[in-house]
Amino acid sequence: MKYHDMLARLGIAHAHPGGGSVSEMWMNAISLPDGARVLDVGCGNGATACTLARRWNCEVTALDIRGKMLENTMAKARQEGVSIHTVLASAEELPFPDGSFDLIVCESILVFVRLHKALSEIRRVLKPDGQVVDVEMMTLRPVTPEWRAEVHNLYGVQQVLDLAGWRGAFRTAGFDCKVLRSGTIQSLPITDGQSGEGAAQLDALRDPQILQLIEANGRWIEENQQTMGYGVFLLTSPRKRT
Ligand SMILES: C[S@@+](CC[C@H](N)C(=O)[O-])C[C@H]1O[C@@H](n2cnc3c(N)ncnc32)[C@H](O)[C@@H]1O
Repeated sequence: MKYHDMLARLGIAHAHPGGGSVSEMWMNAISLPDGARVLDVGCGNGATACTLARRWNCEVTALDIRGKMLENTMAKARQEGVSIHTVLASAEELPFPDGSFDLIVCESILVFVRLHKALSEIRRVLKPDGQVVDVEMMTLRPVTPEWRAEVHNLYGVQQVLDLAGWRGAFRTAGFDCKVLRSGTIQSLPITDGQSGEGAAQLDALRDPQILQLIEANGRWIEENQQTMGYGVFLLTSPRKRT
């Protein structure tokens, strides 16, 4: 079983560094035009998509490569009485015309994809005056190839960059980057009640493969507190000089 399948089975909300409190922080740092079109890339179980739809008068599209994540997102939206459009697709091939969105949200998704492909798609479907918020893990000190292999095996990540690496990737994709916040994983609050509820989740917690993954995840985070950090990035198109 893959890490993301475990997140889907457990209905984990806010599966990114800092959880709901970091989402709340970046939402307080941005503004959105009335009727804005918003895309949540790699929406997971839909917690952020639902918060966006509740908080702003906006049209939210939640996209994920896993059908189960989108089912959970729809169930959550129904429960909360908000309207969300779901799309099954890859971040590397976004099925939208150029310049479609005012805000694109990426919370712990770019580490899992072919970065340059996904960033160029995100840039393409963003309106020229739009903004991207990205919350990602980053390394705080040099790591070995063995460390990278371990993270790949455990989580399926393609890359974890350091701060300079993230900035460079955003610049190459044609974005200006402002770091809204960064720090050690350790400095983040213990995240709020993340797991879902109900019979399906209780059933998932009886699955030995899931228990094994939860344990491996907990151990890895414990062992990597000095190595792992996070960044919250605000990306925009470079301002044209007149
Ligand atoms: C760590 S979870 C984060 C989910 C959500 N953004 C959140 O913060 O709770 C990563 C999500 O990215 C999705 N994902 C992985 N690769 C993807 C891809 N190529 N395109 C779209 N979604 C992808 C996974 O299915 C999963 O839902």
